[in-house]
Amino acid sequence: MFKQKHVVLTGATSGIGIETAKLLLSEGASVIGIGSSDKSCAKAYKKLADLNRNIQFIECDLSDQSSIRNLVKLINNRFHKLDCLINNAGAIYLKFQPDKIGIEKTFSVNYLGHYLLTRLLLPNLMAAPEAVIVNVSSVAYKKGSLNLDDLRSTNLTATESYTRSKLAQVLFTRTLAKKLEDSSISVNCLHPGLIGTNLLSKNGMIGSILTCAHKFVGRPAKYGAIHVMHNARLLGNCNSNGMYYSISKPEKLLPHALDIKKADELWKLSAELCNLPVELV
Ligand SMILES: NC(=O)c1ccc[n+]([C@@H]2O[C@H](COP(=O)([O-])OP(=O)(O)OC[C@H]3O[C@@H](n4cnc5c(N)ncnc54)[C@H](OP(=O)(O)O)[C@@H]3O)[C@@H](O)[C@H]2O)c1
Repeated sequence: MFKQKHVVLTGATSGIGIETAKLLLSEGASVIGIGSSDKSCAKAYKKLADLNRNIQFIECDLSDQSSIRNLVKLINNRFHKLDCLINNAGAIYLKFQPDKIGIEKTFSVNYLGHYLLTRLLLPNLMAAPEAVIVNVSSVAYKKGSLNLDDLRSTNLTATESYTRSKLAQVLFTRTLAKKLEDSSISVNCLHPGLIGTNLLSKNGMIGSILTCAHKFVGRPAKYGAIHVMHNARLLGNCNSNGMYYSISKPEKLLPHALDIKKADELWKLSAELCNLPVELV
């Protein structure tokens, strides 16, 4: 199904992302994989290029808006038309770390960076006859609470930071789906299951210990990739827009993720933080 389809996949260097890249490549896609450093990109390229040469990697720090803008320039040089964007990258920071504009980094990487990337790539997605955006959220959204005055707060626990970032991804999915209703692009989000990955690894020694525990309880990453691919295969299915899938099954969202006012406020604030117009042009 992905023969000659162009796909941008964030978080392609590790865990669910690298396994998704393998599946996309096996189905004939041309993939631009994104990782946070040259080193992680080179390592992942080495693993994947033996299987298939249709993969390129570009380094981009999703907590840095100038890095994202630079990434989009590089993508524009390579793929004018884009069939699929998979916003998969993610991290959990156990202690407060600010991004360059002072926003807490778990929120910045998991949500705000993807908001900016998606908006900047909309013209490329619109250039394809049909396109799909996949936001890898999490069941953790259920516990999320989003206070928009709190994005620079140093007082949140890691769980609060992570769950609100995943809630923000769901709210973003809903708003974007509505805005793209009359277009050829659909957008959905998903929970990929409990998967043993490196999500907690960016936290020094304690991160390494927690990563071992996470890998012990979670399933292998290839199982998460199956659910990401399920959403990517919604390409061309105009009946699925603004949906949330849990382990490949559509699931009703909890009321706080259907809060239109909050979703609208989040969209407006995100546009402001990214120096973008509120309306899609
Ligand atoms: N694992 C689970 O149980 C689970 C459950 C629900 C949802 N999810 C979601 O699944 C997605 C994939 O995570 P994973 O579990 O596969 O974790 P992972 O193995 O740690 O992979 C995370 C990916 O995100 C990238 N990334 C992290 N920080 C970045 C940054 N600042 N800029 C650019 N890329 C960055 C990493 O790139 P580098 O390696 O280059 O830093 C890596 O490729 C995440 O959105 C996560 O929230 C996971």
